[in-house]
Amino acid sequence: MVGQLDGRAATAIVVPADHGPADNGAADLASRLVAMEGVSKVYAMGEQRVHALRDVSLRIDRGEFVAIMGASGGGKSTLMNIMGCLDRPTAGSYHLEGRDVAGLGDDELAVVRNRLIGFVFQQFNLLPRTSALKNVELPLIYAGMRPRERAVHARAALETVGLGDRMDHQPSQLSGGQQQRVAMARALVTTPSIIMADEPTGALDSRTTVDVMALFRRLNQDTRITIIMVTHEEDVAAYAGRVVRMRDGQVLSDERQEPRRAPRQSPASEPV
Ligand SMILES: Nc1ncnc2c1ncn2[C@@H]1O[C@H](COP(=O)(O)OP(=O)(O)OP(=O)(O)O)[C@@H](O)[C@H]1O
Ligand SMILES: [Mg+2]
Repeated sequence: MVGQLDGRAATAIVVPADHGPADNGAADLASRLVAMEGVSKVYAMGEQRVHALRDVSLRIDRGEFVAIMGASGGGKSTLMNIMGCLDRPTAGSYHLEGRDVAGLGDDELAVVRNRLIGFVFQQFNLLPRTSALKNVELPLIYAGMRPRERAVHARAALETVGLGDRMDHQPSQLSGGQQQRVAMARALVTTPSIIMADEPTGALDSRTTVDVMALFRRLNQDTRITIIMVTHEEDVAAYAGRVVRMRDGQVLSDERQEPRRAPRQSPASEPV
C-alpha cells in the first residue's frame, strides 16, 4: 500500500525522558550529544523584550529521534536555531558533542555546524535551475572537496533517499516530496551527526508526508543518525521515539513513545 499511512497509531508508552538535573556534571555533559542547561533567549524589540525561551534544559543522546511540538510562537524554531548553532542563547549553557558552543564566535559556530549538522527546511531551499546532483554537491563545495569525489558522495546520498533516477532533474521538474528528499540528501551528504528539520512536511500533502517520514524513520533505524524535528502534526510526531512539547518558551512535557514503524517497502524508490 504505497504512500498510505500504515494504519498503526503509535502506542503512547509514556516514560518520562531523562532530562532532569539529577545526573548532571561535567562527565555527563561530555557524553551527551546535545546538553542544554537553563537556556534562555530574549529578543530586544525596541523597548519590548520577547522571552522566546525561558530556562530550557534538554538533553538528547546519539541515535534519538525527537519531535518538538507546541503552539505557534512557543519557541520551537528559536530552540532549533540555538541547537543548530544558527543562533546563541542569551543565558544558559549549551554543549554539543561535549563542546561548549554557547560562547563561540560566528566563524567557529559555522565550522561546528557544517561538521555536525544537516538541515532540512519546510520550503526545501533548493537552488532553482540546478540539478538535484549539483544541489546535493553544494555543501561539499563549501567543504572544499574535489569535483569527482563530490559527485560520488552526492550520487550515493541521492540513492539513499531513493532518487537515483532523478539526479539530473531540476527542482521544478520534481514533485514536492522528491524535492524534500533532495534536501534530505543534501543534509546527509556531509555525514553529519544530527539532522535538524523544522517542519519538514509542512509544505507536503499527506501521501508525500508519509514517504518523507518513512525515510526519516528508516535513516534513524538503519544508520542511528540523530534526528531532531519540529512539527505541528501528531501523525508526523508519531514516527519519533520522543516528543518534547513547548509552550511560552518552556518545555511543557518530554515523553518517550513507541515510534510508528516505516512501511517495509520503500515508497521512495518506486517510480512516480
Ligand atoms: N528574530 C526575532 N526577533 C524578535 N522576536 C522573535 C524573533 N524570532 C522569534 N521571535 C519571537 O519569539 C517567540 C518564539 O518564536 P519561534 O519562532 O521560536 O516560535 P515557534 O514555536 O517556532 O512558532 P511557529 O510554530 O509559528 O513556527 C515568538 O513570540 C516570536 O514572535
Ligand atoms: Mg517555527
